[in-house]
Parts: sequence; structure tokens; C-alpha cells
Amino acid sequence: MRPGEHCPSYLLRLGFPGEGSEDVLERHRPAPFTGQKFGPYELLERLGEGGMGTVYRARHGELGRWVALKLLSGAGFASSHLVARFHLEAQAAARLDHPHIIPIYETGEEAGQPYLAMKLVEGQSLDRLIRQGQFEWGPSARAVQVRIAGLLATVADAVQYAHQRGVLHRDLKSANILVDAAGEPHLTDFGIAKLAQEESGLTRTMELLGTPGYMAPELAGDSTASVASDVYSLGVILYELLTGHLPFEAKGTAEMLRQIREVEPRPPAGINAEVHPDLQTICLKCLAKEPDRRYPNAAELAEDLRRYIRNEPIQARPASARERLWRWSRRKPALAATLVLLGVVSGIGLSAVFWQWQRAERLSAAEARERQRAESALQQLRLDGADTLLAEGENALAMAHLGQALRQTPIIPGQPIG
Ligand SMILES: Nc1ncnc2c1ncn2[C@@H]1O[C@H](COP(=O)(O)OP(=O)(O)OP(=O)(O)O)[C@@H](O)[C@H]1O
Ligand SMILES: [Mg+2]
Repeated sequence: MRPGEHCPSYLLRLGFPGEGSEDVLERHRPAPFTGQKFGPYELLERLGEGGMGTVYRARHGELGRWVALKLLSGAGFASSHLVARFHLEAQAAARLDHPHIIPIYETGEEAGQPYLAMKLVEGQSLDRLIRQGQFEWGPSARAVQVRIAGLLATVADAVQYAHQRGVLHRDLKSANILVDAAGEPHLTDFGIAKLAQEESGLTRTMELLGTPGYMAPELAGDSTASVASDVYSLGVILYELLTGHLPFEAKGTAEMLRQIREVEPRPPAGINAEVHPDLQTICLKCLAKEPDRRYPNAAELAEDLRRYIRNEPIQARPASARERLWRWSRRKPALAATLVLLGVVSGIGLSAVFWQWQRAERLSAAEARERQRAESALQQLRLDGADTLLAEGENALAMAHLGQALRQTPIIPGQPIG
């Protein structure tokens, strides 16, 4: 392997750390590469590493300039086509000049090893700060949330600046935001981080290149990166800052991609009850599955975050239950159609049962009326018979008829007989 290159199982565990991953990382960690010359640079200290390679604190010998030097070695960087695209993307990113975007000084290749020299930022990556509990709720939940909103608004400004110049980030995540000693965020890895993934097939290389947790649902399908997919990733970072978790944290890549595409994220206040409803609404708007329901650009997201900071009403509105149901049915048309069909079928079944029951009720009422009519007629016959027998002097027989009639219909005072 070339300097800084890693074996696939190392990269795999880096993307999805699990039990015993530390051991694996230690066993496969590349030999320190410090104190050595690399082209015009002297490598002084290993700062960290991600899916694409290793970052060193380095010094340009002639210029005496300190830089962060990224030696690329991730999956796919052996392909010359990919390396060519990397140089193109890095050149586009190098034209960005913004106080919150880490400038790229140069890209190059040394003994076949592509590299990227960028401004060295003394600080910590945002993901590490979150893991250290730097954004945990202290006595003032409002103060922390104002800090979070301010930080993300600054990042969104930087993203907007790049978008206006036609550069997408493609891999916005807390690990790509460095926070300096003054607490200011600086965005890095514009445009280049997801190149290898795009080039060599999403799910296969996803396992090598890290978590897809920040990836927009449409990218888990067959769409390509867009302003909307960057806005989605900003929403994931906000979610992470508010809750300490990603919206989806499934273990395997396939399950993770399914959840990103199909499952609604748990609202942040369900994890941290103190999350302000406005920040929750802003966050969930970024995380909408349909790109056109998100903020149309990063500037509008930044504006809403600043409205929250200024205690003004935000523009985003929480989705109603009916809207959520409608969106769900659009995402799962087959299941929704089946449920509607089941509803219709069981509706038809229920009305048939109801109709039959009503009919039976009507029949039994008619039957009861008929029976009553027949009994009245019989009574009348008995009374008439008794009359005739009395007239003929057959008193005993007449009394027997009357007795039978009375047993059938007892005399109730005040009510007529028969
Ligand atoms: N410009 C920089 N200045 C100072 N440190 C940096 C700089 N760029 C990167 N680092 C350090 O190097 C680490 C690794 O960065 P890298 O971009 O390789 O990893 P990642 O962001 O986790 O993954 P990915 O390869 O997907 O971007 C960072 O977490 C950070 O600590
Ligand atoms: Mg990075």
C-alpha cells in the first residue's frame, strides 16, 4: 500500500463502528507517516482521517506555510478518471473565497498519490465537539439553542455562497465543519467528498466511505446531488446538534437507506423535550422527504434560524396531520392504495350486513303484527261463539268459551276487551 493508504476492512469499520471496532482500527491503522518529506511538504503530525484519506499538519518547505495536507487513498481513488474529476472539483472549490469555507491552496500528485493542501484550522471538528457534550443543555436551554442556531446559520451562509457560484457540497456533515478557538465554524471538503461514491456505485462504496446518515432521501434513490440535498444535510446537522443523534441510526447500510427513504424522523423534541418548537419546525422542514417541501435555498434556512434568535415568528409552518398522511401516501402509493381498497371493501361489506339486519328486523315486525291480528280474530270468534251459545240457552258451553277468551286476554280495568 502507498503511504496513507488503508485496507478495506479498516475503512469499513471506520464507517460503521461497532463492537470491537477500536481493536480493528488499531490493528489496521497505517504506520505513522510523520517527519517525512512529501513533495514540497514536510509532514509533521497526523490530524485525523476520514473515508478519503489521512490529514496531516504539514509545512510547505519553501513558502514556510503551515497547511492541512490531505492524502487521498479511499475506495476508488486508484481510477485515473476519478483522480481527474477530483482535480476538477477541487479547482472549483479552490475558487471559493468565504470566511467560513476552508480555502484550498493547491491540489497535486506526488509519486501517483493525489493530495490536497488547505488552510490549517486550529480547532476541533463539530462531530467531536458534539460527542464531547459541548452542546448539552445547561441551565439555560435558550442560550444553547441560540448558539446552535447561530452556528448553523453561519454554515448555511457559507453553503449559500458556494451554491450561488455553482458549487454543491455533497457531503455536509458535522465532521466536515471545523470549529476554531473562537467558536467560529469553517466548512471543508466542498464538492469532493462524495466523488468516489458517485463514480463507483452508491451502496457498495457507501460501506467503505462512511455513514450515509446525512444523505438526502432522493440520493438514496437515483437522483443526483442538488441545492435541496445540501439543505437536507444541513437539517441533519441541526438535528444532531439538538439531540446528539442522527435522524436515522440503523446499523446496516441497506436498512439505513430504507429508513432515509421511507421513515419520518422522530421529532427532535421527542428525544430532548426542551427543543424549542420553532427550531424543531425548521429542522423538520429541512428533513422533508420531498425536496420541494424543504427551504428552497440555504439562505432562507439561515433567515429562519435568525428569526428564532431574534424571537420573531419563523416562516416555516409545522406540517398538519392531514399533510403528513398525504405525504406518506405519496411515498407509499401501493400500500396506501391497498389500505383504501381494504377500507372500501370493508365499507361495502359492512353496509351489506347492515342492510340484511334491517331487512330481518322489518320482517319480524311484520310477522308480529300478523300474529297479533290472527289472535284478535280468534278472540272475536270465541266471544261471538259465547254470544250465540248464550242466545241458544247453552249457558255452560258459553261460559267455557268466555273462560277461554279471558285466559287469552285477561281483563284489565279501564281497557276494552278484544
Ligand atoms: N483544514 C483542516 N485543518 C485542521 N484539521 C483538519 C483540516 N481538515 C481536516 N482536519 C482534521 O482531519 C480529520 C479528518 O478529516 P477528513 O475530511 O479526512 O475526515 P472526515 O471529514 O471524517 O471524512 P470525509 O473523508 O468523508 O470527509 C478531521 O476530523 C479534522 O480533525
Ligand atoms: Mg472531511
